[in-house]
Amino acid sequence: GIDPNFDDNRERVGEENGVDVWGPVDPPEQLGIHGVHVAVDYDLCVADGACLQNCPVDVFTWVDTPGHPESDRKVEPTYEDQCIDCMLCVDICPVDAIDVDGS
Ligand code: SF4
Ligand code: F3S
Repeated sequence: GIDPNFDDNRERVGEENGVDVWGPVDPPEQLGIHGVHVAVDYDLCVADGACLQNCPVDVFTWVDTPGHPESDRKVEPTYEDQCIDCMLCVDICPVDAIDVDGS
Protein backbone atom coordinates (compact mmCIF):
# COMPACT_ATOMS: atom_id res chain seq x y z
CA GLY A 1 0.00 0.00 0.00
CA ILE A 2 0.84 3.69 -0.03
CA ASP A 3 3.71 4.79 2.23
CA PRO A 4 2.05 6.93 4.94
CA ASN A 5 5.37 8.73 5.45
CA PHE A 6 5.68 9.66 1.79
CA ASP A 7 6.16 13.34 2.64
CA ASP A 8 9.37 12.43 4.56
CA ASN A 9 10.52 9.67 2.22
CA ARG A 10 9.88 11.35 -1.13
CA GLU A 11 10.65 14.66 -2.74
CA ARG A 12 7.97 17.04 -3.90
CA VAL A 13 8.64 17.33 -7.62
CA GLY A 14 5.88 19.66 -8.74
CA GLU A 15 2.17 20.20 -8.98
CA GLU A 16 -0.65 18.99 -11.22
CA ASN A 17 -4.22 20.26 -11.19
CA GLY A 18 -3.32 22.30 -8.10
CA VAL A 19 -2.22 19.15 -6.23
CA ASP A 20 1.34 18.45 -5.01
CA VAL A 21 3.19 15.57 -6.71
CA TRP A 22 5.82 13.44 -4.89
CA GLY A 23 8.40 11.58 -6.94
CA PRO A 24 10.02 9.73 -8.38
CA VAL A 25 8.09 10.26 -11.59
CA ASP A 26 8.90 8.93 -15.05
CA PRO A 27 5.75 9.25 -17.14
CA PRO A 28 3.82 7.50 -18.43
CA GLU A 29 4.96 4.43 -16.45
CA GLN A 30 5.75 6.03 -13.08
CA LEU A 31 3.55 8.82 -11.76
CA GLY A 32 4.33 9.15 -8.05
CA ILE A 33 1.97 10.21 -5.26
CA HIS A 34 -0.56 13.02 -5.65
CA GLY A 35 -1.84 15.11 -2.74
CA VAL A 36 -0.91 16.03 0.81
CA HIS A 37 -3.80 15.67 3.27
CA VAL A 38 -5.51 13.21 0.94
CA ALA A 39 -2.78 11.39 -0.98
CA VAL A 40 -3.21 8.88 -3.82
CA ASP A 41 -0.37 6.63 -4.98
CA TYR A 42 -0.82 6.79 -8.74
CA ASP A 43 1.46 3.80 -9.23
CA LEU A 44 -0.87 1.62 -7.12
CA CYS A 45 -4.28 2.97 -8.18
CA VAL A 46 -6.15 0.59 -10.51
CA ALA A 47 -9.03 3.01 -11.17
CA ASP A 48 -11.47 1.04 -9.03
CA GLY A 49 -13.46 4.24 -8.48
CA ALA A 50 -14.98 3.36 -5.10
CA CYS A 51 -13.23 6.31 -3.46
CA LEU A 52 -14.62 8.81 -5.94
CA GLN A 53 -18.12 7.33 -5.93
CA ASN A 54 -18.40 7.18 -2.14
CA CYS A 55 -16.56 10.23 -0.80
CA PRO A 56 -19.28 12.23 0.99
CA VAL A 57 -17.76 15.58 0.02
CA ASP A 58 -16.57 14.79 -3.55
CA VAL A 59 -12.85 15.26 -3.01
CA PHE A 60 -11.83 13.24 -6.09
CA THR A 61 -11.89 13.84 -9.84
CA TRP A 62 -10.76 11.53 -12.68
CA VAL A 63 -7.63 12.26 -14.68
CA ASP A 64 -6.46 10.31 -17.74
CA THR A 65 -3.12 8.51 -17.47
CA PRO A 66 -2.66 6.70 -20.80
CA GLY A 67 0.26 4.30 -20.84
CA HIS A 68 0.37 3.62 -17.11
CA PRO A 69 0.72 -0.15 -16.47
CA GLU A 70 -1.97 -0.35 -13.74
CA SER A 71 -4.74 1.76 -15.28
CA ASP A 72 -5.35 4.48 -17.84
CA ARG A 73 -7.01 6.82 -15.38
CA LYS A 74 -6.49 7.83 -11.75
CA VAL A 75 -8.27 9.85 -9.08
CA GLU A 76 -6.90 13.29 -8.30
CA PRO A 77 -7.59 14.54 -4.75
CA THR A 78 -8.54 17.84 -6.33
CA TYR A 79 -10.64 19.09 -3.42
CA GLU A 80 -8.55 17.58 -0.60
CA ASP A 81 -9.05 20.74 1.47
CA GLN A 82 -12.71 19.76 1.87
CA CYS A 83 -11.94 16.32 3.34
CA ILE A 84 -13.79 15.58 6.59
CA ASP A 85 -11.48 12.67 7.58
CA CYS A 86 -14.21 10.04 7.46
CA MET A 87 -11.58 7.48 6.25
CA LEU A 88 -14.06 5.81 3.92
CA CYS A 89 -11.73 6.06 0.92
CA VAL A 90 -8.79 4.65 2.89
CA ASP A 91 -10.87 1.66 3.98
CA ILE A 92 -12.58 1.00 0.64
CA CYS A 93 -9.67 1.14 -1.82
CA PRO A 94 -8.91 -2.45 -2.89
CA VAL A 95 -5.20 -1.76 -3.38
CA ASP A 96 -4.64 0.55 -0.38
CA ALA A 97 -3.59 3.42 -2.62
CA ILE A 98 -4.92 6.26 -0.42
CA ASP A 99 -3.51 7.87 2.71
CA VAL A 100 -5.44 10.49 4.67
CA ASP A 101 -3.30 12.57 7.04
CA GLY A 102 -1.29 10.21 9.24
CA SER A 103 -3.45 7.13 8.74
FE1 SF4 B 1 -13.56 11.84 1.19
FE2 SF4 B 1 -13.65 10.72 3.61
FE3 SF4 B 1 -11.66 10.13 1.94
FE4 SF4 B 1 -11.76 12.53 3.06
S1 SF4 B 1 -11.45 10.58 4.15
S2 SF4 B 1 -11.34 12.11 0.90
S3 SF4 B 1 -13.97 12.89 3.15
S4 SF4 B 1 -13.84 9.64 1.64
FE1 F3S C 1 -7.84 4.15 -7.29
FE2 F3S C 1 -8.37 2.94 -5.02
FE3 F3S C 1 -9.79 4.98 -5.76
S1 F3S C 1 -7.82 1.97 -6.91
S2 F3S C 1 -9.80 4.91 -7.97
S3 F3S C 1 -7.62 5.02 -5.29
S4 F3S C 1 -10.58 3.15 -4.75
